[in-house]
Amino acid sequence: MAELKLQHLDKIYDNKVQAVYDFNMDVADGELIVLVGPSGCGKSTTLRMVAGLEDISAGHLLLDGRDITQTPAKDRDMAMVFQNYALYGHMTIYENMAFSLTLRKEDPNVIHKKVLAAAEILGLTSQLNKKPAQLSGGQRQRVAMGRSIVRNPKVFLFDEPLSNLDAKLRGATRREILLLHKRLKATMLYVTHDQTEALTLADRIVCMSMGHVQQIGTPLELYDKPANTFVAGFIGLPPMNFYNGMGFEDGKLKGNGFEVELSDEEKDTLKDYYGKEIILGVRPEDVSADGNLQIRVTNNENLGMNTLVHGYIGDNSHIVAKLRGWEEYHNGDTAAMKFGRKHFFDKDTTNAIRKEEK
Ligand SMILES: Nc1ncnc2c1ncn2[C@@H]1O[C@H](COP(=O)(O)OP(=O)(O)O)[C@@H](O)[C@H]1O
Ligand SMILES: [Mg+2]
Repeated sequence: MAELKLQHLDKIYDNKVQAVYDFNMDVADGELIVLVGPSGCGKSTTLRMVAGLEDISAGHLLLDGRDITQTPAKDRDMAMVFQNYALYGHMTIYENMAFSLTLRKEDPNVIHKKVLAAAEILGLTSQLNKKPAQLSGGQRQRVAMGRSIVRNPKVFLFDEPLSNLDAKLRGATRREILLLHKRLKATMLYVTHDQTEALTLADRIVCMSMGHVQQIGTPLELYDKPANTFVAGFIGLPPMNFYNGMGFEDGKLKGNGFEVELSDEEKDTLKDYYGKEIILGVRPEDVSADGNLQIRVTNNENLGMNTLVHGYIGDNSHIVAKLRGWEEYHNGDTAAMKFGRKHFFDKDTTNAIRKEEK
């Protein structure tokens, strides 16, 4: 069992920089939580407070109901996997994985069993006598995970474990971490700046900006119902198109030199905004060819199964459309397109405008 409660956590560094504000979350036993956000938003600081590597300035941290806010890192029963692996170059893979248990003076027979079991899970059995330098980056990252697994910690903490790997290896290692999570059924907190990692790995995502939690939810919730323009712009690739200053009148949204038709349901969602301006968001994959929105194409990127069309609508509002299949557009073309699913945001708060759920 490993249930974590992060209650109103603040972090203020000695130089008075506040890195984390009022972080609140209950992590269920066996859950894989991904903290995502741009560089400097406070992800590592939050993880390090959980690990006990940074003091908690205010708030409480509970593990299975026990307050561990002041508990030293070594007594928290958590294991952290870092970006740079931190393996001992002069030791074999076996010795690296056994190291923490050897330090604890565990029975060598028990250590042997645990190392072999972890090596088996990670596909490292045939590598145990090698030195780290003889292994690929992906294998080294697995050794780093193996070192955590042998300790059988209550909570696994990962800080950008894949960012030193090339794209192909990142994908493969990501899937291994997912399998590992399924197999160990362990509680995991995972930090990344990569929204793809967050979407593909997480049971729930915590999206952060400038020390503040912006939204906590399943990957689908963050993608489909982003709480505000920050989350809407951060989750999804290419990012959502945003149009500021869209006036809601005559049952339409009127922008700078273009208009957008609304369905009855969309009008109903916006009923409190009649005569006001809002921010419209449309994901590139929700723009489709064949409509009456005139796009002045600037360039075309073929990705194989998709085509990204870049251009302008109205008075130079930028648009990216992600179309299915291989399409050929050229600089200077005019293309008629249409917006599908639309997201609406309050222009003052930047929060999503939604119909009250019944
Ligand atoms: N030891 C430190 N002393 C002072 N400020 C720090 C320290 N570590 C991080 N910060 C600041 O705290 C903020 C959050 O940093 P961090 O948690 O490392 O962000 P992330 O992991 O999301 O990139 C940043 O503004 C960073 O400069
Ligand atoms: Mg970091």
